[in-house]
Amino acid sequence: MRPTAAAEATLLKNPLAKPEQRWPAPDPSVWTFHRRMPAYSATTLYDGPDLAAKYGVKRVLVKAETQRLGLPSFKILGASWASYRALCDHLGFDPEPWANVNDLSRRIAYLRPFSFAAATDGNHGRAVAFMARLLGFSCRIFVPKGTVPARIHAIQNEGAEVTVVDGDYDAAVARSAEEASDRCLVISDTSWPGYDVTPRRVVDGYTTIFLEIEQALAAAGVGAPDVVIVPMGVGAFMSAAVSYYRSRPWTGALVGVEPADANCIQASATAGEMTAVPGPHRSIMVGLNCGLPSPVAWPRVSTGVDWMVSIGDERAREGMRGLAGSGVVAGETGAAALGALAALAEDDATAAFRDAGLLGPDKTVLLMITEGATDRGHYQAVVGRAPEEVGTILTVAR
Ligand SMILES: Cc1ncc(COP(=O)(O)O)c(C=O)c1O
Repeated sequence: MRPTAAAEATLLKNPLAKPEQRWPAPDPSVWTFHRRMPAYSATTLYDGPDLAAKYGVKRVLVKAETQRLGLPSFKILGASWASYRALCDHLGFDPEPWANVNDLSRRIAYLRPFSFAAATDGNHGRAVAFMARLLGFSCRIFVPKGTVPARIHAIQNEGAEVTVVDGDYDAAVARSAEEASDRCLVISDTSWPGYDVTPRRVVDGYTTIFLEIEQALAAAGVGAPDVVIVPMGVGAFMSAAVSYYRSRPWTGALVGVEPADANCIQASATAGEMTAVPGPHRSIMVGLNCGLPSPVAWPRVSTGVDWMVSIGDERAREGMRGLAGSGVVAGETGAAALGALAALAEDDATAAFRDAGLLGPDKTVLLMITEGATDRGHYQAVVGRAPEEVGTILTVAR
C-alpha cells in the first residue's frame, strides 16, 4: 500500500447509478463520416502485458487516442462531427454527396468568409481550428488565463486566432458564445441554457472510438472488458462511453477518473445533483480541470457510471511513465486512466473497489488514453525521455 496519505485517491460507488438503464446505440453514420476525414484510420488498441502483471489483472488494454486524424487527442472526433452537423443546419441541407473533406470544402466555398469559434483548455479548440482550416474557414479560439504557450502555439499553427481570456475555462466559454453570428458558428463541447445541440453532437462524435474497440476486440477474439476507465472533465467523453456500454447487455464496471481538486462529477454524484467545485483547478491533468459537469452529459454520466475515483497529479505522472514503459506516449491528461488503475489497485482508500472483485487475475481492464504529448517540455521532465525516444510520434505540439 502507498505510504503517503496526501496522494491517496478518493473513491465513490456512484449512488445514482442505474446499471440496468439502456440508452440508444450509437449512430453508425458518425463512424461513416469519420472514415471520410483525411488520413482516417482506427487508433491502436494495445495489449499491455507488463501493466497487467504490475496491477495483478489478466489483461490491460490501452486504447491510445494519442494520435487521431493528425492531432494528439481524441477531441477531433467530436469537433469534426459537431462542426459538420452545425454546418448542415446552417445550410439547411446536407451537402451530400462528397467523397472527402476537400470535396466538401469546395461545395461550401460560397459561404466564405465564414468562421468557427470555440473555448478550450487545449485539445477541443485545436480540433475546431483544424476543422476550420480543412474547410477553408477562419477560426477564433478562447483560452483561459495561464494556458501554456505550447498549447496556444499548437492552436495558432492550425491558423486560428487565439485570445487569452482573463479568467478560467468557464470565462473562456462565456466569451466564445459572444462570437455567434450568421457568419460564425460556435462549436462548443460544453452546453449552456439554450445551447445544447452542438455539445450533444460532440458526444456523438466520440462514439466512433467505442465502435473501433468493438471491432478490434472481435478481430482479436477477445471478449468485452470487465472494467473500463475513462477520464472525466465535463463528462462529455464519459457520456459517449455510457451511450455505447449501456446500449447493450454489458455487465462490466464503468469507472470515471477526475483530478482530486476538480472532481465535479464525483461531487455532483455525492450531492445527488450537478454541483460546482470552485477553482482554481491546478492539476497537471489540464483537460480535466473542470468545475461543473456538462448538463448535456449529466443524465448519462450520473446514471451510467458505476465508480468514480479522484487522483492526485503524482498518479498522472506515474501513468505517463507506465505508458512510456509500454511504448505509448501519453500526456498528463491522457495518462489519467492508468493513474486511476494504479490508485484502484494500490490505495487503502480504494479497497472497496478491490473488495467488489473488480480487479484480479481473471479481469480485463480497458484504459481510455486520451492524449499524446501536448507539452513536450513537461513530458520530458516527467518521463525522462523525449516523446520521440519513447514511441513513434506523428503529432506533438509543434
Ligand atoms: C485529453 C483529454 N482527455 C479527456 C478529456 C475529458 O473530456 P470531457 O471534458 O468530455 O469529460 C479532455 C477534455 O478536454 C481532454 O482534453
